[in-house]
Amino acid sequence: MRRKLAAGNWKMNGTGEALTALEAIAGAHPAATVDLLICPPATLLYRAAQAVSGSRVRIGGQDCHAANAGAHTGDISASMLADAGASAVILGHSERRADHGETDAQVCDKARAALDAGLIAIICIGETLAQREAGQTLDVVCAQLAGSVPDGIDGSRVVIAYEPVWAIGTGLVPTLEQIAEVHDTLRQQLIGRFGSETAEAIRLLYGGSVKPGNAAEIFAVSNVDGALVGGASLTAADFSPIVTALEQAAG
Ligand code: PGA
Repeated sequence: MRRKLAAGNWKMNGTGEALTALEAIAGAHPAATVDLLICPPATLLYRAAQAVSGSRVRIGGQDCHAANAGAHTGDISASMLADAGASAVILGHSERRADHGETDAQVCDKARAALDAGLIAIICIGETLAQREAGQTLDVVCAQLAGSVPDGIDGSRVVIAYEPVWAIGTGLVPTLEQIAEVHDTLRQQLIGRFGSETAEAIRLLYGGSVKPGNAAEIFAVSNVDGALVGGASLTAADFSPIVTALEQAAG
């Protein structure tokens, strides 16, 4: 059985005082029955990892370089994230793909580096509104999945986050049928490529405007193993009910 995962993506938000929110999230779920992950900005990684040490919350990065070390000014390697206390990293988020031109091939290289460093790789895919309206959603996400996920993986260490670009930070969410269609398709694609044992171990998260008010219905959708949450992961008041909804879905 796949263990459900509630992951928070803080994006470029938070300085030292944000650790209070992190501690509140950890304190609200001392015996969480789902996996909890918060991905703060890189500047907070080490302190965040210290702050949640001994709790159920794990800490992750938001990006890594594909190389382990070298002349890459401003970049951070997967092993550096691990050294700072991260146990996972988000890769290929649509904001990285849009702002930094990251391609599927680059995301795939980063994912390989992350897995080599012992991190869980959370690989993001998702269609734009124009692609959705043109009826290309399944083609787009399948191509991103094929190009962004490395070969030879341990499925338990790979997480796919389906995040429609148009749903991120907008308050818009796909219908439950649309989420199910994509997640079921992704599972079938993964089974076809990796075989069922590996594919059934890969967690599929939904991301894009997940809030306390819509979490429960999203978590009831087939092949939704949790969420990647942006804005609503910044405070315990918002994130905690999402965690609770996921625990209830896990049964
Ligand atoms: P949102 O962001 O929950 O604020 O829409 C999700 C994400 O970008 O991971």
